[in-house]
Amino acid sequence: MTLKISVIGTGYLGATHAAAMAELGYSVVGVEVDAGRLASLQRGKLPFYEPGLEEVMVSNIEAGRLRFTNDAAQAAAWADVQFLCVGTPQQKGLQSADLSFAFAAIDALAAHIKPGALVVGKSTVPVGTTRVLEQRFLAAQPHRTDVKFAWNPEFLREGFALEDTLHPDRVVIGINDAESEALLRSVYAPMITEGIPFIVTDIATAELVKVAANSFLATKISFINAMAEVCEAAGGDVTTLAEALGHDVRIGNKFLHAGVGFGGGCLPKDIRAFAARAEEIGAGKAVAFLGEVDQINLRRRDRILALARVLLNDDDLTGRRITVLGASFKPDSDDIRDSPSLAVAVLAHEAGAIVTVHDPKAILNAQRVHPELGYEHSLEDAVRGAEILLHLTEWREYRSADPADLFNLVALPNIIDGRNVLDHGQWSQAGWDMLAPGRTLPLRVPVG
Ligand code: UDX
Repeated sequence: MTLKISVIGTGYLGATHAAAMAELGYSVVGVEVDAGRLASLQRGKLPFYEPGLEEVMVSNIEAGRLRFTNDAAQAAAWADVQFLCVGTPQQKGLQSADLSFAFAAIDALAAHIKPGALVVGKSTVPVGTTRVLEQRFLAAQPHRTDVKFAWNPEFLREGFALEDTLHPDRVVIGINDAESEALLRSVYAPMITEGIPFIVTDIATAELVKVAANSFLATKISFINAMAEVCEAAGGDVTTLAEALGHDVRIGNKFLHAGVGFGGGCLPKDIRAFAARAEEIGAGKAVAFLGEVDQINLRRRDRILALARVLLNDDDLTGRRITVLGASFKPDSDDIRDSPSLAVAVLAHEAGAIVTVHDPKAILNAQRVHPELGYEHSLEDAVRGAEILLHLTEWREYRSADPADLFNLVALPNIIDGRNVLDHGQWSQAGWDMLAPGRTLPLRVPVG
């Protein structure tokens, strides 16, 4: 009999998980409370940009394996496994995670949940959340000890969401009982057969793996950005430093790209929530360094404007025409949550500059949150008349742009490569003055 799966919350994580579970052949219902998002999913339209995901979602809807509803009670009564994929954003004005969506999901399921069902959390949560959710459930349904709880963190990267979900580096499950382990082994059987490491552990460890992984990644990025600061002071080149470090296989070259720093819906909020939770459980000192990781990261944004002032040879940005290339927090995504590029655009605007933002996918999202900035949909229109370009999200379109063509459009040929990925020689040859974080060398090759 086909396993029945519900996915509560169909944002980035949930929509991807629902499509992936259907792709594995299960019968899946996605539960969504947001009417606009639900209508879009029901029409087979992804409400966000993620390469390849919409096609897989549509083919599974057409095959009858995947549907979307707002009827949590019906889904609760139907599914054998209920995956919790709701958002856990940063609480307004606080560092800690907001669990209200998880609580609402449990409340919606509680009265209707199928006998013997397994509730599996996938959202990123503070350690101890599973117990809190289970207690909340039992407070509402004191006799339903047949319902079990497990935690199964998700490690997907935006831009690679489907691939990361169907072929992850590892599957981690935190369980309290052998029955739940057996059920999750059957859910993930295709991955176990593929040889993907399957780690079974207690629930606290499973909850911690995700925040620990994201803290490590954030720390690695901030480490190299700290080295960028030192390089700037010492006259070194952080890209060569990173390359040299990366050859040591114990260090590795991944997540060692210095630039404007990390953003997105996960890394920034996860390190803050982790630090807040560690404080609550008496382990605050152990992860106090995450505060420093955050600060290093945020300093990079100011650094971009400092470099812009150097190139423009002007401390006052009032009235200067600045074009920001990229609004999403990383390429191949229209996600602008905690986007470093947009944050720099806002800082430049606040400093009095006339800011124009370009992005291949994220303009509508950016416009909604920051209507005060100027936007252009074509790269040519965005750079026309600019006195400086700030390259802050490394979309392929920017790397493949011809610097000689852009040279003819701008008022002044200045560019900051905030991601350290452009071919500096090529831009310099085309007449551009370029600066990049972590590289204090002038990067100016005389023309001719
Ligand atoms: C991250 C984790 O990678 C993923 O495992 C987790 O499930 C969710 O959080 P994501 O937010 O999609 O995924 O983006 P990621 O690719 O990790 O990049 C995060 C940020 O770090 C981006 O802003 C990116 O530009 C930046 N970054 C990444 C750097 O600045 N330097 C690097 O070397 C790598």
